[in-house]
Amino acid sequence: LHLSITVHLRWDFLVFSCVCVDEEAVFMSLCVQPIPLLRTQRCRSITLSQEQVSCLLANAFFCTFPQRNSHQTEFSNYPDINFSRLFEGSSQTKQEKLKTLLCYFRRVTQQRPTGLITYTRQCLQRLPSWSSSEKQFGKLHISCEGSIEDQGYGMLQVDFANRFVGGGVTGSGLVQEEIRFLINPELIVARLFTEALNDNECLIVTGAEQFSRYSGYSDSFRWEGDHDDQTPRDEWQRRCTEIVAIDALHYSQFLEQFRPENMSRELNKAFCGFVRPGVQPENLSAVATGNWGCGAFGGDKRLKAVLQMMAAAEAERDLMYFTFGDADLVKDCVHVSRLFLVGSVFRLLLQYYECVCKKTTRSRPQKTLYSFLSELL
Ligand code: APR
Repeated sequence: LHLSITVHLRWDFLVFSCVCVDEEAVFMSLCVQPIPLLRTQRCRSITLSQEQVSCLLANAFFCTFPQRNSHQTEFSNYPDINFSRLFEGSSQTKQEKLKTLLCYFRRVTQQRPTGLITYTRQCLQRLPSWSSSEKQFGKLHISCEGSIEDQGYGMLQVDFANRFVGGGVTGSGLVQEEIRFLINPELIVARLFTEALNDNECLIVTGAEQFSRYSGYSDSFRWEGDHDDQTPRDEWQRRCTEIVAIDALHYSQFLEQFRPENMSRELNKAFCGFVRPGVQPENLSAVATGNWGCGAFGGDKRLKAVLQMMAAAEAERDLMYFTFGDADLVKDCVHVSRLFLVGSVFRLLLQYYECVCKKTTRSRPQKTLYSFLSELL
């Protein structure tokens, strides 16, 4: 079903008329074979044209994937794809989300997009031995100004994901991942075919174009108009924007995250997102990241910063870290980035857990991780 949607945005409500064109002919000319699934534990890539993606998203907008509405089907381990929950209620955030999505549909129906997008599920069977790693920390660029999507140009840009990629983008969620999926809506189609991520997996999307500008965050998110994405295209006609979805663990108790098995899980997840097997380190861009897992998922910014520095070092990539306004974190990260070998830092983290976290009776230890590390530096 290929719909040409003519959208007129008006501030108080959305008016759109859809003209059903010759669905059969157009759809069959766009999606000539069933779309493969990116199932768990299978490394696989799917490349679609932006036009095919727009057709699939138009279907999602009109909720034409009925077998995806119930969680009893074979797709129970996949994210929602139909936009039905976006039409529930009349909150300001839902309106702003719809404005952002309709801006995309207006743009792709006014001018047919001509590029390609590749969705890659990367699963690692061999993971680093963190306690014996001899890798040295790479360069750290850190800023409390800016954002991953604005200043991470040309770098591997991290999506602070849910294991069901896109999180609450088709519902009420509206933090880092959902915002990214709204301003680069071609990311949303990954929800159609990407099964929930396991601890050793990530999703890499190359070529997703940014169509909208925004302001604010969460409840204050506002669509601010078109964005003209001037990112150059590669030889495959994909925008040179590489986004990696890695899902952190969700902690309800602060001390949980210092448990060795949890620190190892986060290191492995970040490493899986950062590493590109077979690519020479000199050909790898820096990773643009930030407080991954430290918002909705309750992680400690300083621990996550160290873990990402370690994972980037192991993947032989530099790190661009956006503290999102936290000036103190900038100072602490610069200080701790002088740590050297990944293995020795990992052993210090284990020591911190044994000597401090395990012995405290408080919900948060009095001795912070960075004061512990500084004493040993
Ligand atoms: N650039 C850099 N840093 C950012 C940006 C951005 N564009 N947006 C937010 N941050 C910082 C903020 O400091 C925020 O508190 O990242 C922190 C973590 O953002 P969250 O989105 O809360 O990430 P996380 O804690 O990993 O929660 C993931 O939230 O968006 C959903 O689907 C996602 O379920 C998942 C959960």
